[in-house]
Amino acid sequence: MSTKRPSLKSVIKSKELQRRSFGDYRRFIQNQYDGLPGALTKWTGLVTGHKSLAGRLLRPSGFDVRGCKRILDAGCGNGRYSHFLVRRADDDALITAFDYSQRMLQRARRNLPRDRVSHVAADLTRLPYADECFDAIVCGWVLEHLPDAKAGLSELSRVLKTGGKMLLLTTEDTFNGAVCSRLFHCRTYNRSELKQVCAECQLHWYRELWFSKVHRFFHLGGIIVELRKLAPSQANL
Ligand SMILES: C[S@@+](CC[C@H](N)C(=O)[O-])C[C@H]1O[C@@H](n2cnc3c(N)ncnc32)[C@H](O)[C@@H]1O
Repeated sequence: MSTKRPSLKSVIKSKELQRRSFGDYRRFIQNQYDGLPGALTKWTGLVTGHKSLAGRLLRPSGFDVRGCKRILDAGCGNGRYSHFLVRRADDDALITAFDYSQRMLQRARRNLPRDRVSHVAADLTRLPYADECFDAIVCGWVLEHLPDAKAGLSELSRVLKTGGKMLLLTTEDTFNGAVCSRLFHCRTYNRSELKQVCAECQLHWYRELWFSKVHRFFHLGGIIVELRKLAPSQANL
């Protein structure tokens, strides 16, 4: 009988989502972000360069939010993406951000001009917004905290207008992704499986983005994709 040895990747990957019930895992993650690991995101973002890399993505040649009048930052954390949305969106754009960690929301509020971003405590799987009310959504590094991508993507798709755009960033099932999964107690996604789930949620995989040419060459930085919401008739084609 041949016994297959587990890969290093699967050994490194966090098992928190499998080990705990989802309710327990949710509380665990909320506590993480309410506590020191959440407070440190301000500094880790600077050290790893993620803060400036976020700015590279939200450029007119990247994820262009000009002309979008209602924009959502889903799982905003300390406001890293909201910061660039404020800079790049039209002056009259309404920017809304949510997170289920109250402390992360406080940190985001401290970091951003109050008159530009409104913050709400909410869970990605049960959004307090009407159908089709946003022109653009950014969802950065949140989906990996769900056992099932569909629970989050179907909600994001529901609140996104038909024809609206979404920038989705999530941890990939690569070696680096496994290390991130261990550090942030999250899962990873397979690119083609995620693409399939997006399609089931009427979200067309419009184009893949990378932080830089170096990230693209070495396949680093996770899954970064611009999605477009299709009309139901187009989605069924
Ligand atoms: C890695 S941080 C990313 C923050 C921010 N989007 C960024 O890229 O800097 C993940 C954030 O998602 C939040 N989060 C995780 N699961 C969530 C859920 N189901 N609903 C709402 N927020 C969630 C956490 O509280 C945390 O602030």
